[in-house]
Amino acid sequence: MAAYIGTATSRVDGVAKVTGAAKYAAEFNVSGLAHGSVVCSTIAKGRITRIDTSAAMRVEGVLTVLTHENRPPMPDNDQAYKDEVAPSGSPFRPLYDGRIMFNGQPIGLVVAETSDIARFAASLVRVEYDEEVHVTDVYRQRDQAVPPKPPTNPFEAMFAPPKARGAPEQSLAAAAVRHEGEYYVPIEHHNPMELFASTVIFESNGKLTVYDKTQGVQNVQKYLCGVFGMKPEDVRVMSPFMGGGFGSGLRPQFQVVLAVLAARALQRSVRVVLTRPQMYVLGYRPAMIQHIAIGANAHGTLDAITHDAVTVTSQYEDHHRQETGWSGLLYKSAHAKYEHRLARLDLATSCDMRAPSAASAVYALECAMDELAIALELDPLELRLRCYSDRDQHDDRPYGSKALRECYRQGAEAFGWDKRTPEPRSMRDGSDLVGWGMATGVWEALQVPITVRIVLTADGRAEVACATSDIGTGTYTIMAQVAADMLGLPLDNISVKLGDSSLPQSPVEGGSWIAASVSNGIVTTADAIRDELLRLARQMPNSPLANAAPHQVALSDGRLVSKRDASRTVSIADVMRHGAVDRIEMEKTTDPGHDATRANNTHAAIFAEVKVDEQLGVIRVTRVVSAVAAGRILNTKTGASQILGSVVGGIGMALHEETLIDHRFGRIMNANIAEYHVPVNADVHDIKVIFVDEPDDSNPLGIKGLGEIGIVGVAAAIANAVYHATGKRVRDLPITLDKLQGDGR
Ligand code: MOS
Repeated sequence: MAAYIGTATSRVDGVAKVTGAAKYAAEFNVSGLAHGSVVCSTIAKGRITRIDTSAAMRVEGVLTVLTHENRPPMPDNDQAYKDEVAPSGSPFRPLYDGRIMFNGQPIGLVVAETSDIARFAASLVRVEYDEEVHVTDVYRQRDQAVPPKPPTNPFEAMFAPPKARGAPEQSLAAAAVRHEGEYYVPIEHHNPMELFASTVIFESNGKLTVYDKTQGVQNVQKYLCGVFGMKPEDVRVMSPFMGGGFGSGLRPQFQVVLAVLAARALQRSVRVVLTRPQMYVLGYRPAMIQHIAIGANAHGTLDAITHDAVTVTSQYEDHHRQETGWSGLLYKSAHAKYEHRLARLDLATSCDMRAPSAASAVYALECAMDELAIALELDPLELRLRCYSDRDQHDDRPYGSKALRECYRQGAEAFGWDKRTPEPRSMRDGSDLVGWGMATGVWEALQVPITVRIVLTADGRAEVACATSDIGTGTYTIMAQVAADMLGLPLDNISVKLGDSSLPQSPVEGGSWIAASVSNGIVTTADAIRDELLRLARQMPNSPLANAAPHQVALSDGRLVSKRDASRTVSIADVMRHGAVDRIEMEKTTDPGHDATRANNTHAAIFAEVKVDEQLGVIRVTRVVSAVAAGRILNTKTGASQILGSVVGGIGMALHEETLIDHRFGRIMNANIAEYHVPVNADVHDIKVIFVDEPDDSNPLGIKGLGEIGIVGVAAAIANAVYHATGKRVRDLPITLDKLQGDGR
């Protein structure tokens, strides 16, 4: 075993991607394809009183204009529109009625022979509204924010705040040293490179094949069946490749509804691609206003921590995660309390964006810890070590594994942290102020039920299939690696099928749970293949494995081999020939269950260096070291890329990213990647990723997942470095020149 697991294996889909052979949702072509262009509302709240499509209809090449007035029937109950990760509330129904709930809401679809014609005609649709007063400013609504409704199902229950412990108010009041602060994370957008797109192939019998940009093909399939009253066997959803999701593709997007609506109305194949501004309409990281108070004793251990937060959602759904509880988890503190409220705004529902809740909440916690360290005159790393928690304090249980101490040690050493001088403005490089900051990251290590099918053929090849997605994280590659090792075959002999709703069951690819889920799922199914091979092998005359039990046998180098005595072996080809089978197919579901006795988390220590031009205030993040403890790393190359990309996302959070709304119109002003700033190459300097050793037996392969841990804490490490460089504490993100040079909030 382990010829491939743990190695720096290049992407098995790399050649397909760089040669353009990998096709994305908007690239599947079929003859007679019609093209849809979405018409969006220009007000934030109210009702459509008149919608005039006549000018659009007169354009040559226009096939139809669908609006709430002429659309085919749609269900009138919320349940039909619920996808597998829908929050509580009433999901948005595209083109359902004339009610407007957010600016940019899709209100029509123009379908034409070409996308250019559709887009031009869409500009001719005239709409009149009865406008109502809207609110889109979280600061205006914070006092009206309400606690989330009690959870109604186990999925929602995962996001209820943890129970408070001790007497936090009293111990805060009595603490020798206190720090309190308010921190702000603005609305951010995912901005994946690939636009949301759906190509709906309409077959003569009414069946649909939908190429959709999504993180969950079966989620979209189930959703379409609900919205259109179709049977699963009549809707096949495919997403073989995805050009970035970061959470924006967890829930079905509205263009897939519009494309299917049009395809069924016209009995014709239809494609709908959103424009970049339309990408900003549905789903964003909720803004978060948060207040943290920490009480410590003079020795630098914590007495109490409280974390209050207001996050943003729509008027129609209560999206939130378990935002505040990270504070009572990460550091040892006898007293802790959390409060979370939702500001309902006239925007679309917020959604998950890479490390939802932790990316925002741990930013605040880790800045607050930095400020506490200053108050205590302690090195910020030393403070974290003094408060280190070996137990999950929410449920008073041990961790399956927690190598965070080792992250601190290896990260600090690689960074050279011991050369830091504590005083702000005390380090310089020519005319630049130099700042060094650090922070901790934490995320969950989850495993979810999943089904994997393996077909082994007598030519020594295997196909591994699961309906999961590869959202760019490298799922194809790790699936091939694990299957190759478990089946004892060369990597090139494994083909991976995913991103197809007709394949065995998988949840959405999110929450960093797919690597652990699908890999351990492959182990289960590969074991079943081995068992069948052994059954056949034992029937061979003078079988060297006649008395071997399944767990005593491994598949290696194309052979069944006794683990006790390597001379007892027989080739897979011989076994299959003798058994007169040319293929063995197994499909198994792996349900990890729920082990409540241990906590499963990933951790990271992030060290950042910034250089700040004193005259101009320009901040450059010149170095980042991220030391990550995430169990067994399946692929050090694609794994390190996950962390690198996350660190870049963290640089964006710290210095660049902010969705700006003109509250007079409730409209996003910078809905494009020229004005919504993300880090570009010139903003990304030296980033070093370290994976510390973290043996874990919580699942057979000891995997924890890497998709999200890399972003958590990065913005705080940078914010803390900016303070160390300049002596100026900016508590609302992003840290821009005006805030650094101005008086601050
Ligand atoms: Mo992730 S934000 O669960 O795609």
